[in-house]
Amino acid sequence: MTPLPHHAAKPPMKGILLAGGSGTRLHPMTLASSKQMLPVYDKPMIYYPLSTLMLAGIRDIMIISTPRDLPQFRSLLGDGSQYGVSFSYREQPSPDGIAQAFVIADDWIDGAPCALILGDNLIFADHLSTTLQNAARLEHGATVFAYQVRDPERYGVVSFAPDGRALDIVEKPTHPKSHWAVVGLYFYDSRVSEFARRLKPSARGELEITDLNMIYLQEQSLRVEPLGRGCAWLDAGMPDSLMQAGTFVQTIQSRQGMLVGSPAEVAFRMGYIDAQQLRSWADRMIKTALGQTLRAIADGG
Ligand code: TTP
Repeated sequence: MTPLPHHAAKPPMKGILLAGGSGTRLHPMTLASSKQMLPVYDKPMIYYPLSTLMLAGIRDIMIISTPRDLPQFRSLLGDGSQYGVSFSYREQPSPDGIAQAFVIADDWIDGAPCALILGDNLIFADHLSTTLQNAARLEHGATVFAYQVRDPERYGVVSFAPDGRALDIVEKPTHPKSHWAVVGLYFYDSRVSEFARRLKPSARGELEITDLNMIYLQEQSLRVEPLGRGCAWLDAGMPDSLMQAGTFVQTIQSRQGMLVGSPAEVAFRMGYIDAQQLRSWADRMIKTALGQTLRAIADGG
């Protein structure tokens, strides 16, 4: 038998994009199709969290969605080769909670560290790629982000000690102890599936991501990084927030002439594809402002 090398390379972090759910707060728009397929200005919603994972340097990505919606995502995104990455697909038979993703994907994760992003979460910030790439390098424990919101009762809410240490996280509390909500982007070490398997369904019948985070918090290996006011975190799960997200993207793109949430641009900037590949991708949608901007980026503009 060949002995194991002393310094076997650690597997790179994988990423799950969770794009199932029932989208009841967007009925009737989501009665027949996925929330994450709805447009946020000029792109399908799923492009935004996908770009975020790719910006973190993650190239092996599993898209999990409902049996009804998964074929649509497969036809939109393909195998990922157009972006120089790899996409796998798996069904979540019913929306039994965010943490269930790690049980569903257990064999695919195969002992690698793994991140998860929610398909309706949009995150924009200065230096975001550095923040994400640092988080994606973690070897032990977990990293999550917290963001101050006006309506914390809709989220997992984290409370901090005066020295900045996270004390606890409570899912959708009636009386929130702070305004810091946990963002829908999580980075975990290679034990994540094992921990997810230990979870029991909550009173609402879901495997809760907050319970998974609490396992890491209790062993003191959860880092909670606050995102400041220069950062925008939007979840596009309701008509108003969907509209606001679209307006936000339109405002930045038309003012700066730069793209927000384009996996093709991220792939090019990260060096996953070259200018020629970006050009041929851009030419497929050259009648749109998006295609023309991508073309200009490929041409060095
Ligand atoms: P939610 O917004 O909590 O749920 P939902 O999308 O079903 O919407 P609604 O509350 O309007 O019925 O989900 C957050 C994200 O996580 C969203 O992108 C869907 C995804 N999700 C799953 O894919 N599977 C699940 O089991 C759950 C709970 C959520």
